[in-house]
Amino acid sequence: MPSTAQIGVIGLAATGRNLARNLARRGYAVAVHSRTADRTRVLVDEFGHEGTFLPARTARELLSSLERPRRLLITVRPGEATDSVIAAFAPLLEPGDLLVDGGDAHFADTRRREAELGEHGIHFVGAGIAGGEEKTLYGPSITVGGSPEAYEVVGPVLETIATRTSDGRPAATRVGPDGAGHFVKMVHDGIAHATVELTAEAYDLLRGIGGFSAERVADIFARWDGGRLGAHFTEITTDLLARTAAGADEDRRPGGRHEDGQGGSGRRTARSAQDADVPVAGIAAAVFDQALSGLAAWHRDARRLPGPEPFGRHLADTDAFVREVEQALYASKVVVWAQGWHRIVEANGAYGWDIDLGVVSSLWGDDSLVPAPFLDRIAGAHGAGHAVPCFPADAAFTREFAAAQRGWRGVVATAARGGVPAPALSTALSYYDTLRAERLPTAPARGRRDLTGPRTGHRTAQHDDFTPKGLRIP
Ligand SMILES: NC(=O)c1ccc[n+]([C@@H]2O[C@H](COP(=O)([O-])OP(=O)(O)OC[C@H]3O[C@@H](n4cnc5c(N)ncnc54)[C@H](OP(=O)(O)O)[C@@H]3O)[C@@H](O)[C@H]2O)c1
Repeated sequence: MPSTAQIGVIGLAATGRNLARNLARRGYAVAVHSRTADRTRVLVDEFGHEGTFLPARTARELLSSLERPRRLLITVRPGEATDSVIAAFAPLLEPGDLLVDGGDAHFADTRRREAELGEHGIHFVGAGIAGGEEKTLYGPSITVGGSPEAYEVVGPVLETIATRTSDGRPAATRVGPDGAGHFVKMVHDGIAHATVELTAEAYDLLRGIGGFSAERVADIFARWDGGRLGAHFTEITTDLLARTAAGADEDRRPGGRHEDGQGGSGRRTARSAQDADVPVAGIAAAVFDQALSGLAAWHRDARRLPGPEPFGRHLADTDAFVREVEQALYASKVVVWAQGWHRIVEANGAYGWDIDLGVVSSLWGDDSLVPAPFLDRIAGAHGAGHAVPCFPADAAFTREFAAAQRGWRGVVATAARGGVPAPALSTALSYYDTLRAERLPTAPARGRRDLTGPRTGHRTAQHDDFTPKGLRIP
């Protein structure tokens, strides 16, 4: 067994353990340490045969087993836990050593940590590691921040453990300086959160309006799988069928709508976008719906509130309804991706980054939430030179929006008529309509503003409304 390791992993819960194993299986000697010594022992006992692990009980022991410059991968809880690991290790490091934070840190924390450690010559790299437990073991996609010098030291290692892009390149790359890697991961998770919400709403409509059984919806999802909506329907279908077989039908109860584990990132994406004035309305709708659906006591009380007139649960043409739901889901998904992309483009300007959306698309291509060709099209639409990241205005998307009009609007209207909540589907449609509007009803707001401050926008000749100023309508 070699006495020196090429990389150290700190924090050996699910993520750290699997990344350490991934590294060892690719031939790296990996020094391993966790605050709770038992985690280190269990890793070595259970998986020691997979490669070379050098267990360490203390920070000093871990550092003494690493080759220089020392590479450390931190995989602990974001926030205070990460700060306390940095506080324990940083004083023992030398200029040129490198700390990679593979946790889901807030990008603002990453910017702060990089600046603070940089003053001591220590490289700090925020790496957004995307993929659940399995992918961290077999190949996550990794969006890396930090300096180019730091990437030279740690990039090749991260590239080795990453999955591959559709054209065979490692799905790990430096996307920009300081917090850019964590930022991109945050937006990805926010989009994922909204995608799950949209799917949940489609499911609910098929059940509540279409009157379909869970098995029937599972069949529909199986048909959609791998198509333009993405591949994550396989998992949902499998889950639905398992629950139905077990006799459980608790999936339409308030409180159970979201358990996707993405809530934190969705919230973070929505909050940071709000601060930056970027309207990620679909992501925010998913976040708020999650909060609302969790208010069990409110739901109990509100059940007595009046609803719509009795509505035909069973539609005359159920096949047509399924097609319409698919169109509504797809169009809304494009809108949510547009919002995520907008957030990235805005951050490029605000932080002086140059995150390349084409590169990000290729890294995410492996993601089961969205098919790679869809991402290529989004990146291509940007390449066509839109001044604002309004990729839905791209010709191919425009054709799809045209085809989806009837279905999308029909589904949102039917949901409203039937009293079935569809906040993300309807928010996406409102966003779309706001974007394409020639005039927006700002007269009431203007009237009030006239009393309190200066105006923005132009008053139009014929209408008592404002033409949106600064909003480019393609
Ligand atoms: N699960 C995934 O698929 C995934 C993918 C990418 C990234 N991530 C991110 O990776 C990180 C780890 O996730 P996880 O699910 O494996 O574990 P977790 O439950 O988020 O965190 C547990 C880890 O944090 C350590 N820890 C907690 N407080 C600490 C402190 N004050 N000082 C030192 N260590 C402390 C624990 O150490 P001990 O148990 O040894 O005490 C344990 O190793 C998170 O930031 C997560 O968001 C997760």
